[in-house]
Amino acid sequence: VEDPLRVLLTGGAGYIGSFIADQLYFKGHEVVVLDNLSTGRYVGPSVARFVLADLRDRTLADRVIREIAPEAVIHLAALKSSPESIESPNAYFHNNVAGFANLLAGLEGPTSPPILLSSSCAVYGAVSAAPVGEDASVSPQSPYGESKAFCERMATWHATRFGNAFAALRYFNVGGARDDGSLGDFLQAGSTQLLPACVHAAWHGTPVPVHGWDYDTPDGTAVRDFVHVEDVAAAHVLVLEGLKAGGPGGYFNVGSGYGTSVQSIIRLFEQVSGRSLKVDRRGRRPGDPGFVWAKTDRIYSAYGFQAGKSVAQLVQSEWDWALSRSSGVTELDPWSRVRRRLAEGGAAGVCVSGRILRCDAK
Ligand SMILES: NC(=O)c1ccc[n+]([C@@H]2O[C@H](COP(=O)([O-])OP(=O)(O)OC[C@H]3O[C@@H](n4cnc5c(N)ncnc54)[C@H](O)[C@@H]3O)[C@@H](O)[C@H]2O)c1
Repeated sequence: VEDPLRVLLTGGAGYIGSFIADQLYFKGHEVVVLDNLSTGRYVGPSVARFVLADLRDRTLADRVIREIAPEAVIHLAALKSSPESIESPNAYFHNNVAGFANLLAGLEGPTSPPILLSSSCAVYGAVSAAPVGEDASVSPQSPYGESKAFCERMATWHATRFGNAFAALRYFNVGGARDDGSLGDFLQAGSTQLLPACVHAAWHGTPVPVHGWDYDTPDGTAVRDFVHVEDVAAAHVLVLEGLKAGGPGGYFNVGSGYGTSVQSIIRLFEQVSGRSLKVDRRGRRPGDPGFVWAKTDRIYSAYGFQAGKSVAQLVQSEWDWALSRSSGVTELDPWSRVRRRLAEGGAAGVCVSGRILRCDAK
């Protein structure tokens, strides 16, 4: 790019963040990751500086932001499970809302940089029509969705006050891995979400839990919008560069724009793995609608973004990722590298390639 940016990427050691870090780097941007490694594990060579910090620590967040002086911010650091958030609402508000408030406070000023916020289709709640557009009512059905909706409005007020560019990307169901199986979601094991459960089922013969068989859909199972993680990452780069060039802000769906049933996903896993999957038929979960998929024209007309990868490619890459992990091709514990660096540096801030940024909150 002509105008490379120093981008602060919070949550950049996580699943989606690691793909964004790599794509930013390949476009020539400087990537600074801030992560507390609570769920994130990946710190790749595309990361110029890695800062181990927790956004719930206001003093530390302030110091880090001052030291980094980011020219753009992408905020992903958050907890992300709706069912877990119903069990632990306050942990979700503390992490997702208070953490983001600390970040925004650190970015106050006349030159507040453009902010891109990771949001979710969970802000819509139980939708009654598909596809769902950005103007649909915001009525989250979980503390997780509520935290995302609140973050969107916090950032909107911040932008009103400080004049920075701001966009929130509302992703639908993100999945997939890198085509060569070298990067994917490290924390899938034990997840009850559909894609990891399918991988596990094909691998170990355990049944896939399927919630609801009697929806008013072609095969009775729920229909959702699955979007490839490489497409989601590409949307971030496109919108960030677009915002910097004066493009429109606001709320944007990031989805494939079409729906795929749970049953079809299971069939695709059977095809790629050559194994037949057992299913565990369960009742509908409260608040789970039959159909959800994204209306995608807003981000297309503003930034020309359209998801390019199919659901078949998404499933194939998930399976290749599982194969590469099991064969040991992929380093299973990238976390060990971070730990080693921390031990060497003896500081709360550590860097993986490039300069060491120390940021002990003492
Ligand atoms: N995966 C999906 O399908 C999906 C869908 C919609 C929205 N999202 C959103 O995308 C973002 C990234 O999700 P992901 O799937 O990559 O999850 P992830 O758990 O892999 O990534 C989240 C990252 O944030 C870090 N983190 C969490 N709390 C932090 C804190 N207080 N301070 C510093 N770092 C912290 C974690 O260590 C992790 O690296 C999240 O905001 C999530 O809500 C994800």
